[in-house]
Amino acid sequence: MDKLVIEGGKPLNGTIKVSGAKNAALPILIATLLTDEPCVIENVPSTLRDLRTTFRLLESLGKKVVVEGSTVKVLSTGSLKTQAPYDIVKQMRASVLAAGPLLARFGLVRVPIPGGCAIGLRPIDIHLKGFEAMGARRIADQGDIIMSAPKLNPVTIKLRFPSVGATQNLMMAAAATEGKTIIKNAAREPEMEDLGRFLQSLGADVRGAGTAVVTITGKTKLHGARHRVIPDRIEAGTFLLACAAARGRVKLLGADASHLTAVLSALKKAGAKIKTGKSWIEISMDRRPKAVTVVTKPHPGFPTDLQAPWMSLMTLCTGFAKVTETVFENRFLHAAELGRMGAQIAVSGRTAVVAGVESLSGAPIMASDIRAGAALLVAGLAAKGKTTIARVYHIDRGYETVERKLSGAGARLERLK
Ligand code: UD1
Repeated sequence: MDKLVIEGGKPLNGTIKVSGAKNAALPILIATLLTDEPCVIENVPSTLRDLRTTFRLLESLGKKVVVEGSTVKVLSTGSLKTQAPYDIVKQMRASVLAAGPLLARFGLVRVPIPGGCAIGLRPIDIHLKGFEAMGARRIADQGDIIMSAPKLNPVTIKLRFPSVGATQNLMMAAAATEGKTIIKNAAREPEMEDLGRFLQSLGADVRGAGTAVVTITGKTKLHGARHRVIPDRIEAGTFLLACAAARGRVKLLGADASHLTAVLSALKKAGAKIKTGKSWIEISMDRRPKAVTVVTKPHPGFPTDLQAPWMSLMTLCTGFAKVTETVFENRFLHAAELGRMGAQIAVSGRTAVVAGVESLSGAPIMASDIRAGAALLVAGLAAKGKTTIARVYHIDRGYETVERKLSGAGARLERLK
């Protein structure tokens, strides 16, 4: 298995190009199941492991996927299957998003229930309740959920929590359901807005995607479309935090500052200088960060996906910083690994208190999930000496050619095969 070896403690300087958003590309590619006509999706981070898994999912359901760099064409090969294979769902939980389009179009779907993962139990009850409200019946069989409905009904649904996946699943189901569906307490992440734009270009009428109330007037027959995926705000945020921790000056090209308001505001409080333009963000940092307390929340709050790399930055703060995780129940697995590098972190329930230290020291460490991996990358770049990160495949799920991008900004790191 690959490892990343980082010679840390060197400031970053240079430019980094941000890729298309993994978490927008996944649902948009899955939404191509809503039509038999060709779709062309641009700015897809197609080398990521999760994208490769999505291509396999689409192909296992009967689509043909043609990848040309960051442009992905999804074509029809005949009729679609309505059963998602377990070996794909267990590799990528987002596969469950195939349920919405398939159920709405064919009145039947069978999907394995995704298990929990390192960061939490991650049930799908909000997705299922939404489908039931639209008239689907469900039975459990051999670890799968089978849902059926002769026809889904347009309804008004209020989610008990603004789940990203449930909002996307229900938006897709509603796009192929005749009539007006209203989703209240919907997730407001920028990826919802991007999916909304794609559904609109397929022929559904979508209002309010990216706000708490989404109204979708669906149609049983949708057509093909071309779409460009938004930039990856989490990748961009990780590079900003890497520069804040290792110090230096980095300009991110192709980044959207309006998607990162909470993170940029916390970075400014920590002492970073931030400049933004139409599609770029520049950060410079020349000192230890001040202690800044963050609480993760659904968008527009501080994103849970940047909590771990934020904690890496705070390990170096001048004071005590609190980090509270409210979205996932077990997302502090990086704290112990950071401890191996000299960080002082006390975790109690959903809150971690970080006592800042002058510097971290490189160590052999291990990634436990994608964003914990990002946290170790940030810490390794800032730490003095050599850090070796094992289980890099977690980082490869969400960060394209990460060593090449960071080397371009002066970082010293290489991959050991
Ligand atoms: C998506 C993102 C992930 C991000 C998360 C929160 C993708 C592919 N993944 O994951 O990177 O960390 O949003 O911003 O876009 N929940 C339930 N019942 C449900 C659904 C969710 O209890 O039916 C709970 C989950 O267990 C979790 C919380 O709600 O504690 C947030 O989950 P959700 O917003 O659904 O995240 P995902 O779509 O899985």
